[in-house]
Amino acid sequence: MVPARNGSAIPVLGFLICAAFIYLSFRDLWLNHKWRTEIGFVKRNGTQFVVDGKALYVNGWNSYWFMDHAVNEHSRYLVSEMLETGAKMGLTVCRTWAFNDGGYNALQISPGRFDERVFKALDHVIAEAKKHDVRLLLCLVNNLQAYGGKSQYVQWAWQEGVGLSSSNDSFFFDPSIRKYFKNYLTALLTRKNSVTGIEYRNDPTIFAWELINEPRCTSDVSGDTLQDWIDEMTGFIKSIDDKHLLTVGLEGFYGPNSPKRLTVNPEMWPSELGTDFVRNSNSSNIDFASVHIYPDHWFHNQTFEEKLKFVVKWMQSHIEDGMKELKKPVLFTEFGLSNLNKDYEPSQRERFYRTIFDVVYKSAKRRKAGAGTLVWQLFMEGMEGFNDEFGIVPHEQDPMYRLMVEQSCRLGKVTGRREEHKLRKLCSHKH
Ligand SMILES: *[C@@H]1O[C@H](CO)[C@@H](O)[C@H](O)[C@H]1NC(C)=O
Ligand SMILES: *[C@@H]1O[C@H](CO)[C@@H](O)[C@H](O)[C@H]1NC(C)=O
Ligand SMILES: *[C@@H]1O[C@H](CO)[C@@H](O)[C@H](O)[C@H]1NC(C)=O
Ligand SMILES: *[C@@H]1O[C@H](CO)[C@@H](O)[C@H](O)[C@H]1NC(C)=O
Repeated sequence: MVPARNGSAIPVLGFLICAAFIYLSFRDLWLNHKWRTEIGFVKRNGTQFVVDGKALYVNGWNSYWFMDHAVNEHSRYLVSEMLETGAKMGLTVCRTWAFNDGGYNALQISPGRFDERVFKALDHVIAEAKKHDVRLLLCLVNNLQAYGGKSQYVQWAWQEGVGLSSSNDSFFFDPSIRKYFKNYLTALLTRKNSVTGIEYRNDPTIFAWELINEPRCTSDVSGDTLQDWIDEMTGFIKSIDDKHLLTVGLEGFYGPNSPKRLTVNPEMWPSELGTDFVRNSNSSNIDFASVHIYPDHWFHNQTFEEKLKFVVKWMQSHIEDGMKELKKPVLFTEFGLSNLNKDYEPSQRERFYRTIFDVVYKSAKRRKAGAGTLVWQLFMEGMEGFNDEFGIVPHEQDPMYRLMVEQSCRLGKVTGRREEHKLRKLCSHKH
């Protein structure tokens, strides 16, 4: 609009511009003030997470669907409800996807092109998490196909005529694709949250970054390709953001040079995936190790009791690595018991979870490297389309709900956090 150039309009216009300027400045100040009521960054001290001078053992969960549901008005409330429910259970960390490459509700529409609508949804997720006192472990890309993943990057490179190879593993070694991924990392880390005014890289609500969900690079069994990619990308992230912790996102398998491939890996195939838990997690910019636990998918024919035995051994082995080899915390970032098992009963799931919680609790009591667990996965009523064979809708009366609350209270006791306002109320009438 062109303003009328006459004597009386100019002072009015001047006033309006001035007023708008003052309003915007104060709005910024006010926003920053409102949201910068300081919570500390989570740091690490040897094999422990620390925040505000105290150790932190994580009892948390996965809800990968947050950003997707925050895009549309009609489903946005589910994010707040889930965070509120988690916080009520004393859960402190939620792992979720900060990527969606190509496809429906994509954050990255094509290399380097972002949908502002979806970025605003992620802004909202982070702001809501802060409101509920929950920190987020944000995952940056998928090895699997869901929500784009590495195969989407490879497809983009082909479409733009720069792809070197049709292998989906070229995500790891193709220089053009590495550049795509770095561009995405830069956009995300330096994103200024439209709700809070805080850049992602400066926001302590973010617990940590996770480089990639369940990386595998079977085209190079030696593991050198994936290791090289991890070293490069973690260095790149740290050059932009050295405030946040960083993890790989591994399943936890031992590679071809590890003696534990024979004694701890579920079967023979996991040593041929181009990954190695110790080598990958030992990368100098990696702050803590991540492990998944899925005996239902990893064995061909095991009884439930055998699975429980495996779980304990698997966890203890990784905690030992955290103590002896890595000197870093070890976070169990996904686990579940499938309800598709032939002999499945809900009471088994309770035992499965209790077994896992017990290992972490014992480790915490002895100040060992078992740093916590993230349940795969919690969701809300009416979202059955987002469920899988592992999902749980938390209901106060369910044994699983009580089990998770009990874990929050036990871990809170170990760290002296049980006296903090939130846990005091939750744990007062128990044990
Ligand atoms: C860090 O760990 C050392 C050794 O375990 C301990 O003495 C120190 O108090 C810890 N510092 C914090 C801030 O937890
Ligand atoms: C890459 O992954 C996509 C999606 O999983 C799959 O359809 C395609 O066949 C894969 N390409 C190759 C060369 O394996
Ligand atoms: C871990 O890395 C350090 C140097 O960064 C190296 O000295 C050590 O041997 C590595 N450990 C393992 C188990 O790879
Ligand atoms: C699976 O294990 C059970 C008990 O160990 C055995 O009876 C059954 O034959 C096995 N099935 C297969 C397909 O190997």
